Amino acid sequence: MPHTLANLHQARGAKLAVIGQPIAHSLSPRMHQPALDEAGIDARYVALEVDPGHVADAFARMRALGFIGCNVTVPHKFDALEACDEIDDTARDLGAVNTVRFDSDAIRGTNTDGYGFEMAVEESLGLELPGQTVLIVGAGGGAGGAIAAHCARRGVKRLVLANRTEAKAETLVARLRKRHPRVDLAAIGTDDETLLTSLAAGCRLLVNTTSLGLREDDPSPLPPGCLHENHAVFDTIYKPTALMNAATKAGARCANGSLMLLHQGVAAFRYWFPGTDPEAAMRRGLLG
Ligand code: ATR
Repeated sequence: MPHTLANLHQARGAKLAVIGQPIAHSLSPRMHQPALDEAGIDARYVALEVDPGHVADAFARMRALGFIGCNVTVPHKFDALEACDEIDDTARDLGAVNTVRFDSDAIRGTNTDGYGFEMAVEESLGLELPGQTVLIVGAGGGAGGAIAAHCARRGVKRLVLANRTEAKAETLVARLRKRHPRVDLAAIGTDDETLLTSLAAGCRLLVNTTSLGLREDDPSPLPPGCLHENHAVFDTIYKPTALMNAATKAGARCANGSLMLLHQGVAAFRYWFPGTDPEAAMRRGLLG
């Protein structure tokens, strides 16, 4: 059972947490606790259910209880950015905070999701982001926005942002174009299947950041005609999805989001404990 702000003081030894809602099924404790234990750090990592609008309260409460920091997940990543005293350039560019450290003088925030995405794409698909051609479907959400901003920062050649609500993709393209004038950016609504298929054909890496795939009967966010054997498909969902099935059928390489979870977690751990090497323990805890 996850903890709540009301009973957090009873969580003996807790010094780190992941906050979100819902949070009961978070895999983060499963990977962080073995890394803490292996490093000989006397701290427990817990899941903490926090209602929307209560991120600042949660930070204050954890700080009062002597917490080292926390991870932040859906739906709190934007509120966390607002609730920090200081955020670094990465969090500012990605527009969200997923990792927080309670220093004695300030609450500091960063974002390790982009790094986790890049490491996962390298490891599971063998692709590097600089110079890459990328299509992101679901660019209207927080995860899509962060991954899009990371791709632009890392100097992809072409970035196509597709979204059910086209206006959200257009807004993001306009924002990224100002900061990254050298990236070839395009926005598109997912209902224009012909254009979507032709833009997808010009990209090597296709990324799903929609929530489609969380439920077993969810359809693929991309029509099957979009997928070819020369595509590499990265689905940020942690389990097999209709998109991954369709990609496999089309002969494309594909990977799910579990390695992204791992690598963002490794970077978060190092933000709290610089100089540590938690990857092997976290990988065992998460992937077995
Ligand atoms: P998060 O912030 O966690 O990424 P979100 O804000 O719910 O989650 O965003 C989810 C993304 O998935 C959005 O891009 C959303 O598209 P809209 O901007 O049009 O809402 C997309 N999405 C969610 N459900 C979808 C569906 N049934 N079909 C297509 N896209 C969907």
